[in-house]
Amino acid sequence: MSGKILVIGAAGQIGSELTSTLRNSLGNEKVVAADINDNNKEVVNSGPFEILDAKEFSTIKQCVDTYNIETVYLMAAMLSATGEKYPEKAWDLNMTSLFNVLNLAKEGVIKKIFWPSSIAVFGPTTPKENTPQHTICEPTTVYGISKLTGERWCEYYNKKYNVDVRSLRYPGIISYKTLPGGGTTDYAVDIYHKAVTDGHYDCFLKEDTELPMMFMEDAINATLQLMAAAESTIKLRSSYNVAAFSITPKEVYESIKKHIPQFTIDYNPDSRQQIADSWPCSIDDNSAQKDWQWHSKYSLEDTTDIMLAQLKAKYESTKN
Ligand code: SER
Repeated sequence: MSGKILVIGAAGQIGSELTSTLRNSLGNEKVVAADINDNNKEVVNSGPFEILDAKEFSTIKQCVDTYNIETVYLMAAMLSATGEKYPEKAWDLNMTSLFNVLNLAKEGVIKKIFWPSSIAVFGPTTPKENTPQHTICEPTTVYGISKLTGERWCEYYNKKYNVDVRSLRYPGIISYKTLPGGGTTDYAVDIYHKAVTDGHYDCFLKEDTELPMMFMEDAINATLQLMAAAESTIKLRSSYNVAAFSITPKEVYESIKKHIPQFTIDYNPDSRQQIADSWPCSIDDNSAQKDWQWHSKYSLEDTTDIMLAQLKAKYESTKN
């Protein structure tokens, strides 16, 4: 890859780890990080950084011109739970930012785009087990509607204007570096933090709510593998299903309890339960396996080992 990369939403849960992985492999100067705020000091201090509102076409264009950007990873979005509180804002951010980068590619200013979609494109009428790549998609959240609409536009820009846009339907992503914000799958990150800091977790989903999840390293690998794949192998220009493991809050709790036997949990479902109930339990990612040889590496047990070790070290170091 010769040209530079711009990560929009670089301070977020996935954006921050994508930025550091790309900087480590390509060199800090090759990867420009941008976000609406400069709160993530690791991202801000490890290479070029710009404050940028993903809704503003001219600001993105200026950044792309200044740094001679070839590839954009658009990671800025409002997630499912916050989206239900601010439906118009969620629609505006999620769609306007996507059109901004699609149009830059259509004009030939940038060459390649990664844009994340989500399991939120599915809805209550979708088959829940082993949800196929092509199936009924009737999402009931604004976030899901914006992701499904975005997928259609990605495919449209590829077919009509030959835009090289690539996408994954991420499941819930579990990580220890940057917290997720405003999502329904966030419990699967919060639970590890609370296990380490409080020894107790109040879960906002029921104990038997099964959702597809993935450890961050797998999510980053899937993203970079898709972006590195030869253009001819990318058969889907909407978005690829990707899967690792499916878990319930009770299963996460039990896997943590093996390491922290005194850990306790209560289940107090809130409005996010309804969102979780509308999503699949497990995902069929055969197309990704076949087209660009995707395979996940991390199980729930691997994830729990790493999450607890990393968070214990993190909270220990902040105490001193
Ligand atoms: N993690 C997202 C959410 O919970 C789903 O893509 O909103």
